Amino acid sequence: MIHSSSGTLVHRIGTSQIGRTALRGLRSQARSSSSSASAATAAASISSSSLKAAGRPRCQTFSSLSVEAPQEDGMFALILGKPGGGKGTISKKILSDFPQFQHLSSGDMLRKHVQNQTSLGKEAQAYMKAGKLVPDDLVFDLITEEADLESGRSILLDGFPRTVAQAEGLERLVHVDMVINLVIPTDTIVERISDRWIHAPSGRTYSYSYNPPKQHGLDDVTGEPLIQREDDKPECVRSRLETYEEATAPLVDYYSSNGVLESFHGTMSDVIYPNVKSWVEGRFDDGRE
Ligand code: AP5
Ligand code: MG
Repeated sequence: MIHSSSGTLVHRIGTSQIGRTALRGLRSQARSSSSSASAATAAASISSSSLKAAGRPRCQTFSSLSVEAPQEDGMFALILGKPGGGKGTISKKILSDFPQFQHLSSGDMLRKHVQNQTSLGKEAQAYMKAGKLVPDDLVFDLITEEADLESGRSILLDGFPRTVAQAEGLERLVHVDMVINLVIPTDTIVERISDRWIHAPSGRTYSYSYNPPKQHGLDDVTGEPLIQREDDKPECVRSRLETYEEATAPLVDYYSSNGVLESFHGTMSDVIYPNVKSWVEGRFDDGRE
C-alpha cells in the first residue's frame, strides 16, 4: 500500500489516474517546496483544469484518486552508499533475482546526457567532473521524468536521492518502502575505483580484478572500447567522498528514523548480496500481508 508521510495515497494510484500533465504540476511543487508541506497540500492545489488537461476530468480532487486500484502494487526501493561502494554491482544482482524492478541510476542517466551533449548534460558536466553534486532540481526532474510512476511497477533508484532536499521532494511523491545502505570501507573503494572501466553508451561496468571483460579493453556485448570515467581520477574521487559525507551521509539517519533502512557491511559484493537478497524478499513478503 502506498501512502505519503501524511497518509495520503500518492504513488502509482495518483499518478496513473492524473496523468503526466498533473504529475508535472505535483512534481514541480514537490521539488520546489522547501517547507514540510505535505503531499496532500501540494496535490490539493493542482487545479481541476490541470486534471482535465490530463484527460481525466472525473478526478476533481486529489483525494478522490484513491478510489481506483493501481495496475500493480509495486515496491519503491533505494540503494545508498559511498561512491564506488558497489551500488551498481548490487543493483544488477537485485535485478536478476527481482526482475520486477525498474532500475534507474541517476549517474548513468546523467552520463548519457553528458555524452549526448543535451542542455541538461552540458549543465551537469562541470559539476560531475569536479566530483560535486548536480543541482537538486535538475536531478529531480530527470528521475521523475524517467521513473515509470504510472504503471505501479516496482522501482529501484540507484544514486537518488543524494541530499535531504531530494529525499524530502521524493517523499512528497511516493512512499519509500525499502532503503539498502551499503557500508564499504573507504580504502576498498579507492582501490576499486582505480580499477573500474565502463562502456559509456550502456553504462556497463567492469573491473580487471573483479569482473573483467572477456576481451581486454572491450565491452562484452558490443565489442566497443571501454573507457575510464572522468570522475574516477584520484583528485575527483576524494572530492566525491567528501561530498558524500557532507550531503548524502545524513540520509542514513533520515531513512533510519522512518524505519525503512537496513545497512549491509563488508568489502565483497558477493558476500554482502545474499543478505541483501533475503532482506528484500522479506520486504516483499511484508508488503503482501
Ligand atoms: P554515480 O554514477 O551515482 O556515482 P557514485 O555514487 O559515485 O557511485 P559509482 O557509480 O561510482 O559507484 P557504485 O556505488 O555504483 O559502485 P560500482 O558497482 O560501480 O554519480 C556520478 C555523479 O553524478 C555524482 O558524482 C554527481 O556529480 C552526479 N549525480 C548522480 N546522482 C546525483 C544526485 N542524486 N544528485 C546530484 N548529483 C548526482 O562498483 C565500483 C567498482 O567496484 C566497479 O568497478 C565494480 O566492478 C567493483 N566491484 C564491485 N564489487 C566488487 C567486489 N566485491 N570486489 C572487487 N571489485 C568490486
Ligand atoms: Mg554506479
